[in-house]
Amino acid sequence: MTISGKAKIAGVIGWPIGHSLSPALHGFWIGQHQLDAAYVPFAVRPEDFTRVVGLMPAQGLRGANVTLPHKEAAYLLCDERDEAAVATGAVNTLVFEGGRVLGRNTDVFGFTEALREDGVGDLSGKKAVVLGAGGAARAIVFALLSMGVARVVVVNRTIAKAQSLAVFFGAHVEAQAWENVSSCLADCDVLVNTTSLGMKGQPDLQLDLGKLKSGAVVSDIVYRPLETNLLQQAKARGHRIVGGLGMLLHQARPGFAAWFGVEPQVSPALRAHLVSVLEGRA
Ligand code: ATR
Repeated sequence: MTISGKAKIAGVIGWPIGHSLSPALHGFWIGQHQLDAAYVPFAVRPEDFTRVVGLMPAQGLRGANVTLPHKEAAYLLCDERDEAAVATGAVNTLVFEGGRVLGRNTDVFGFTEALREDGVGDLSGKKAVVLGAGGAARAIVFALLSMGVARVVVVNRTIAKAQSLAVFFGAHVEAQAWENVSSCLADCDVLVNTTSLGMKGQPDLQLDLGKLKSGAVVSDIVYRPLETNLLQQAKARGHRIVGGLGMLLHQARPGFAAWFGVEPQVSPALRAHLVSVLEGRA
């Protein structure tokens, strides 16, 4: 698609950036809606991040997504932050508007929408177990609490990180050591992996689901591979599973709408396109 001198421009800032799926994702929507717009990757070193973002509004950019390792630096430079950004201390979507930098954390929205899309809506009074206590876990814990979960158990190899999440989120969140994980599963309604375990090139997540409550939903935010070992195991045991691709697709919607003025949809065609990109076919 060609663009004019009036094209609306946004992009994704990361270091490295070559692996990012965001250009393929936003590019699909730009093509689908035949917009005079472009979404480009920006490879920006950590030491250059604040300076580069500072110059973007003056270049006419509408905003940008922010990925590793810049999400905390993005949080710090914003003039305004939404509730999800404040709860996570991380910003993945910047909107430049009227001389101000607005920061959002749309990972929270992405996870919530991915669950809803797969038929998991109201989680009032339910109990969740979250594996991991990094930046992604913060977004997931906040999303689960926003969906009404009554109790979240954060299980992490480094217990101190799980404890600091519990202190941050307060009474509904508790920390548990990794060796206690199976005893946390018996009354668990939603199990979410936010660690990098199970991701291509990483060790597998070794977890015995034998004690997991029947009817529990199992989610993994890892999307390389599309169906992790955890999800395969859960599926084989009859649990409803929610893979990581949905979260990736849905987290992109608010930024696209803000920059380009069109509400994009997560369609089967978009999913198929991203799967083919992930599998190296497109
Ligand atoms: P992100 O921002 O994607 O959450 P992160 O902050 O680096 O990334 O967090 C990665 C999570 O995966 C952490 O909870 C980490 O556990 P530690 O806090 O103990 O480091 C977890 N993780 C990574 N590799 C792991 C492994 N081999 N075994 C257990 N947990 C692991």
